[in-house]
Amino acid sequence: MIKVKSSAELRLMMESNEIAAQALALAGRSVHAGMSTWELDKIVHDFIVSKGAIPSSLGYGGFPNSCCISVNEELIHGIPSRKKIIREGDIVTVDVTTLYKGWQGDNARTFRIGTVSPEAERLMKVTEEALWKGIEQAVPGNRIGDISAAVQAHVESNGYHVVRQYVGHGIGTEMHEDPEVPNFGKAGRGPRLVPGMTICIEPMVNESTPEVKVLPDKWTVVEANGKLSAHFEHCIAITNDKPLIMTLESH
Ligand code: MF3
Ligand code: CO
Ligand code: CO
Repeated sequence: MIKVKSSAELRLMMESNEIAAQALALAGRSVHAGMSTWELDKIVHDFIVSKGAIPSSLGYGGFPNSCCISVNEELIHGIPSRKKIIREGDIVTVDVTTLYKGWQGDNARTFRIGTVSPEAERLMKVTEEALWKGIEQAVPGNRIGDISAAVQAHVESNGYHVVRQYVGHGIGTEMHEDPEVPNFGKAGRGPRLVPGMTICIEPMVNESTPEVKVLPDKWTVVEANGKLSAHFEHCIAITNDKPLIMTLESH
């Protein structure tokens, strides 16, 4: 069941998403070669808590930390660890979800550490562009499939692969609500978009294959061939005209 939000509810969601966006921006300013992913998680955790919010990932399905940090071939759900040291040339995805006043916020971004390979640079660029192609389609009258098809077309026309096993999602009082927002599919299909719907659009893009594997830690999802992957996510609301991007800082 898709829950359409009132304008009062959207205002609360914007507060949660503002905190999620600020936390992600802080992660981007803080991340550097030589630090562990655990240290980066701590920075994100402390910021979210300082705002009176809760890091929704902590304890979600048993997830042990406050955000997901996924390095290089790791696509999503990387578990922060004192043993995982970030290196020059890595690409690092941070995915932050917040709960504030009962409402969820969720966003993710892949960051570069110093100078990265041209291949990594292009993968990140295409993945972020795909997110914006999807957002462009998030207007009333369109359907979820219009978002999916736009994301997929941009990724595949650039020679990359969209992951099928994990998808974007509706969001509200729960982190994951209906509808699913796949990064693949056909234009004109799926639920119709109406004002007040709130969804997370989150292209998950692999360099060499659509396939993924889950590591023995039961969480970390990696590119099946060990090549690079990237992930960008915004939380948006459908409005009467342009999509409202709730995870842009200070709107
Ligand atoms: N932020 C993720 C998403 O975009 C979900 C977090 S998984 C968790 O849907 F286990 F860390 F909570
Ligand atoms: Co997320
Ligand atoms: Co999400």
